[in-house]
Amino acid sequence: MKASAAARIADLRAEIEKHNHQYYVLDQPSIPDAEYDRLFRELQQLEAEHPELVSADSPTQRVGGKALDSFAPVRHVVPMLSIRTETDISDEGAIAFDARVRRELSGSGSLENGDAAIEYACELKFDGLAISLRYERGVLTQAATRGDGETGEDVTQNVRTIHCIPLRLKNCDAAVLEVRGEVYMRRDDFDRYNEAQREQGLAALVNPRNGAAGSIRQLDPALAAKRPLSFFAYGLGETQGWVAPATHSATLDALEKMGVPVNGERTVVSGAQGLVEFHRRIAAKRDELPFDIDGVVYKVNSLALQAQLGFVTREPRWACAHKYPAEEQMTVVREIDIQVGRTGKLTPVAKLEPVFVGGTTVSNATLHNEDETRRKDVRVGDTVIVRRAGDVIPEVVGVALDRRPANAGEPFDLYKRLDGKCPVCGSHIVREEGEANWRCTGGLYCPAQRKQALLHFAGRRAMDIEGLGDKLVEQLVDSDIVTTPADLYALKIATLAELDRMGEKSAQNLLDAIGHSQQTTLARFVYALGIRNVGEATAKDLARHFGALDALMAADEERLQQVPDVGPVVAQSLRAFFGEPHNSDVIQQLRDAGVNWEEHEGMKMEVLPLSGKIFVLTGTLPTLSREEAKTLLEAQGAKVAGSVSKKTDYVVAGEEAGSKLDKARALGVPVLDEEGLRGMLK
Ligand code: IVH
Repeated sequence: MKASAAARIADLRAEIEKHNHQYYVLDQPSIPDAEYDRLFRELQQLEAEHPELVSADSPTQRVGGKALDSFAPVRHVVPMLSIRTETDISDEGAIAFDARVRRELSGSGSLENGDAAIEYACELKFDGLAISLRYERGVLTQAATRGDGETGEDVTQNVRTIHCIPLRLKNCDAAVLEVRGEVYMRRDDFDRYNEAQREQGLAALVNPRNGAAGSIRQLDPALAAKRPLSFFAYGLGETQGWVAPATHSATLDALEKMGVPVNGERTVVSGAQGLVEFHRRIAAKRDELPFDIDGVVYKVNSLALQAQLGFVTREPRWACAHKYPAEEQMTVVREIDIQVGRTGKLTPVAKLEPVFVGGTTVSNATLHNEDETRRKDVRVGDTVIVRRAGDVIPEVVGVALDRRPANAGEPFDLYKRLDGKCPVCGSHIVREEGEANWRCTGGLYCPAQRKQALLHFAGRRAMDIEGLGDKLVEQLVDSDIVTTPADLYALKIATLAELDRMGEKSAQNLLDAIGHSQQTTLARFVYALGIRNVGEATAKDLARHFGALDALMAADEERLQQVPDVGPVVAQSLRAFFGEPHNSDVIQQLRDAGVNWEEHEGMKMEVLPLSGKIFVLTGTLPTLSREEAKTLLEAQGAKVAGSVSKKTDYVVAGEEAGSKLDKARALGVPVLDEEGLRGMLK
């Protein structure tokens, strides 16, 4: 029994780690999440039954662990060095490094032919936190920060939670192998994490580097586990019983074969020209990389030459960092503006003293929303840190409070600033409960929203008005020729022909297209209105179910939620839209202008007891399988979702319910057991 359990445990571990590697290192998921979860639960179950078989390299040991009071010191047998940074960020930086290496090697007599080009390994300079991973006989036994280079901190518990770091190396039985590299946070993980934090009104991370460093220094590993971190290896520390290859590049290749993540943007070049080309090539693709880098690193490839070159203080003579323009800069806030988006979202934007950051001159940076602005306490006159990384919108990430002038502005208060009104159209603004953003309620009436709304209205999948592009909409709105979509139907050829880049012929074509669009369908019309949270599919469902616009406009939230796929959020958006008099006026004008569609009686609603309710199932129920529970729920009109959110009405939890149950509790979602579920199904 025990022998077979041990065998099964070993199989499961190998299988789970294989999928981990596929997913987190190679970015090629090889099985569905549910199947992975099943394997993982089976392993947890077996280990619970046989605690003596739990080992440090089991994937179950990645999570959990107790919070610490402090980190234990770790002495690095081989010190963790830093690298010298070339001060010149132009090509000269690379040329200077190569010249220095050659001078030093020829001085020591190591370069026989002074003209021979030196071979370099070129890598990215990852912007995160240096970590040393100690593997003994292939098993991860310790992870430590750099500290002062001699002594770091034991952060093993936190590092175990990083899924791409192997707990066991493939085909490696070296007595000791210390892998050194950088823990970092991908930009998409950073954005997702921050978005979720902001939605919950919690503090966002400043940048991915702080995110990575802060998470690794978390004393509570459960908190560290929530932060999405990644890792790339770039070298070795202490080794015992390991035959080192002759070059640095071969060392990284060997690590990669053992399952350690090594970044693919590495190459071996020859001479200064090769370094310059690498620096330029990476500069051109810096924005597209999924993570931040602050430069590239050049290393003399031959380990024998590295040994000859040696070190000065804590920096090897055989390596250097060659940087790129910084992605964060300081500048001063001149003003805080509030911009209105397509659906009326009000975004505070800092107007800045122009500053060169991340390769362009930036004079506007988003402050995201009111809570973020207040949390950072950004005021007019403040010196702020602006970040522009990748191709994203520049943002203000922090304030240098020590530089705040005596005459700095007031703490930010969006409602007060706007006196409760949209800065563009004067409609009242609202911030609904649980929402991070204030919104203008002006809808189609608000000029800022109108341009975007008109483009959406004319879109191919909406009213399909060919030829009404953004340049034209811009002109029509700015010159007050078009205020609502209804005005499109009153356009005259003479008015149009006077606009820029509009001849008589194209004016006539546009009028024909507008004329054609009058005959439409209810689904297209509803979609064209651009109601928040109402996409094409929802518009079709609504049209099918209500058959007539008046019926849809008159429906209350409960009635709306009887439509498949319409939940409380969509129902609320529809009510808010139709309830705003500006919107119903525009709809009436469109009908008066001849926009029409066929109507029908609509469907007789069968009202089921659980219509509109959203359930999430987790864990193993005593008698019902998950499929059975789902079928029973759906038969009563309920929807079964895969993850718990604010929208979830009930979570049904069985044996071994995991994070979904925790989340339900955290959000205050009612939790049922099978008996409770059966009660509701009666
Ligand atoms: S090599 C002996 N390679 O930059 C050289 N470092 O001061 C040891 N870094 O904190 C470092 N990317 O964590 C090396 N490809 C790379 C790197 C890299 C980022 C970090 C490293 C250290 C700093 C160097």
